[in-house]
Amino acid sequence: MKDLAGKHIVLGLSGGIACYKSAELCRLLIKAGATVQVVMTQAAEQFMTPITMQALSQRPVYGSQWDTRAANNMAHINLTREADVCLLAPASADLIAKLAQGQADDLLSLMCLARPADRVPLLIAPAMNREMWEHPATRRNVAQISADGALVLGVGHGDQACGEMGDGRMLEPMELQDELIAFFQPKVLTGQHVLVTAGPTFEAIDPVRGITNLSSGKMGFAIARAAREAGAEVTLVAGPVSLPTPRGVSRINVTSALDMLAAVTAHAPQATVFVATSAVADWRPASAATSKIKKDGSGQPPELQFVENPDILATLAQSERGRSRALYCVGFAAESHDLLANAQTKRLRKGVPLLVGNIGPDAFGQDDNALLLVDESGTRELSRDAKLSLARKLIAEIALHLGAGTSS
Ligand code: CTP
Repeated sequence: MKDLAGKHIVLGLSGGIACYKSAELCRLLIKAGATVQVVMTQAAEQFMTPITMQALSQRPVYGSQWDTRAANNMAHINLTREADVCLLAPASADLIAKLAQGQADDLLSLMCLARPADRVPLLIAPAMNREMWEHPATRRNVAQISADGALVLGVGHGDQACGEMGDGRMLEPMELQDELIAFFQPKVLTGQHVLVTAGPTFEAIDPVRGITNLSSGKMGFAIARAAREAGAEVTLVAGPVSLPTPRGVSRINVTSALDMLAAVTAHAPQATVFVATSAVADWRPASAATSKIKKDGSGQPPELQFVENPDILATLAQSERGRSRALYCVGFAAESHDLLANAQTKRLRKGVPLLVGNIGPDAFGQDDNALLLVDESGTRELSRDAKLSLARKLIAEIALHLGAGTSS
């Protein structure tokens, strides 16, 4: 997916060991379809050569305000005029201090000051030692540049190049790429709190065995990511899957359907949208054995008794907030045949305004899918596409329903 196709990004590097990550970042942005113009401070050139950045970006790198290559000799003006965004990564404590004060004594700070602030946003990926990051001067400067309109993307936590441990690492290239992609998504769910269930559940038979299914969780994780990109606060209740948590999403890991219901019930009062994508096991063993069930030599399988699991989606949809649409509930239907008829029946049975049908065997574990949206007014097909693209389209649809007073 070329999520940054058509975007022109000015990537500014200031002095810091994190410059080594900027090479990979540049490569990722270009792979995602962007064009990248690199600008480096003299200090950055101590950590990374302009040759490397030129080779990766396929464009000459700018480093000096006295560079005579620009015909008008005004690189500090020209560089941002075609840009969709300026990303400073790494942004050193020194560069942030300069931006806070409006200093402009090198090309990068000069270019930031001279950029058209109303149409070229400034995104900042700080990188510094933890003491520098926590210093009151840096706190003041970060607050000041935020107040001036810069978007400070935050820092990572962990081992630092200096050998210390704490906050101040530059975010990883993939995290910065995801931040940029999110930045460009329409903020149609600002102010909403989206609760998502994803993945299978695991119902224990004994300490080493259980009943589960082939749900990969990918669709639910994509929806959580798309909702976050759209500006929502997102809580993701995930069954046992090993997918990475989308950036900015708060994740709660659960195992069984009962755990999932408990987590969902605890978070539902704050939520305004509930999207149930989890393939919840319909049945669980009536009681899990406390020790491993052994073969008794008779050749007879053990007798297992099952009880039905609660229907998490129906429970929420039929709650007071679900019925009044204060909590807008969206269900999924994994079917093997008769998708339209089954999805329509399931929508009514669960009592949800919007139900999303898909063919389970074509969707489980895949990176793409095709969806059939069923609501009161009819149906709409979302043709086969990457799950993240479908998730973004579904989020746009949910936003329309919310904006329309949730009348459907
Ligand atoms: N669901 C749920 N809790 C359950 C079962 C299902 O929240 N105990 C939700 C799923 O997350 C999905 C929707 O209900 O959003 C439909 O799930 P699906 O497995 O397709 O349907 P079932 O209700 O299990 O019905 P059936 O097995 O008859 O198709």
